[in-house]
Amino acid sequence: MSGELSPIDKAKFVAAKRAADFVEDGMRVGLGTGSTAAWLVRCLGEMVREEGLKFRGVPTSTRTAELAREVGIEVVSLDEAKWLDITIDGADEFDANLNLIKGGGGALLQEKIVATASDQMVVIADAGKEVETLGAFPLPVEVIPFGWQTTQALIEETLVSMDVLGRSATLRMNGDAPFVTDEGNYILDLHLNRIGNARQLALVLNQMPGVVENGLFIDICDIVVVGYGDGRVELRDINEGTVEHDRLDFVESDNLFTDLAD
Ligand code: A5P
Repeated sequence: MSGELSPIDKAKFVAAKRAADFVEDGMRVGLGTGSTAAWLVRCLGEMVREEGLKFRGVPTSTRTAELAREVGIEVVSLDEAKWLDITIDGADEFDANLNLIKGGGGALLQEKIVATASDQMVVIADAGKEVETLGAFPLPVEVIPFGWQTTQALIEETLVSMDVLGRSATLRMNGDAPFVTDEGNYILDLHLNRIGNARQLALVLNQMPGVVENGLFIDICDIVVVGYGDGRVELRDINEGTVEHDRLDFVESDNLFTDLAD
């Protein structure tokens, strides 16, 4: 089964599998969104079914909620859980300070709320997500549909005075219609190429009327679990300043590997 996985999927899988070990009985766990987070949800589902792991999961999107229920995880809302022990989620980019770009899957708003309401945020990623400077990945910004073109113009105008290399913003589409988030908003992807001061940009964007949230996660992530296609994983803890190396074997499991659609 594992032979069907691409090296990148193997990297995502081993990162997710290693991070699943952070989850303990009784925890309230934020469940991220995206292809890497989907591996995590499948791994946790297997632990629930086969090892009797008991925890409550707070999904960050409707698609994660569906998958979590499907694999046997008890799903609760953030308001029910109130505060979380840990959130495990993917990222589109991370830098040496574990600052992130997220939102490639359009779930950045719930992801940021959930991660911020957690004692610890663990990011799971293949090694290709690491960057020296954030910004090659277009920065997603969630905006309300009312007046979105005016908000786009305001953002582009503001970017002139920011430390970035590009300034164009494009409306994310889903076929012929705008992509709509779980909260009923639109996403503008900012093509910045390089973000010189991510902290400042995150603050400035969130001050604009019409902007709901941006995909820069600054000082939120505590640990990144980096996966490699050969089964190696690296755990970097920004608070402890430690780096731990590990290696995982691909164990064939019909439950985990039959559905590769996510
Ligand atoms: C979802 O909105 C994103 O923040 C994802 O966490 C991010 O895009 C990573 O996705 P992959 O794991 O699919 O690369």
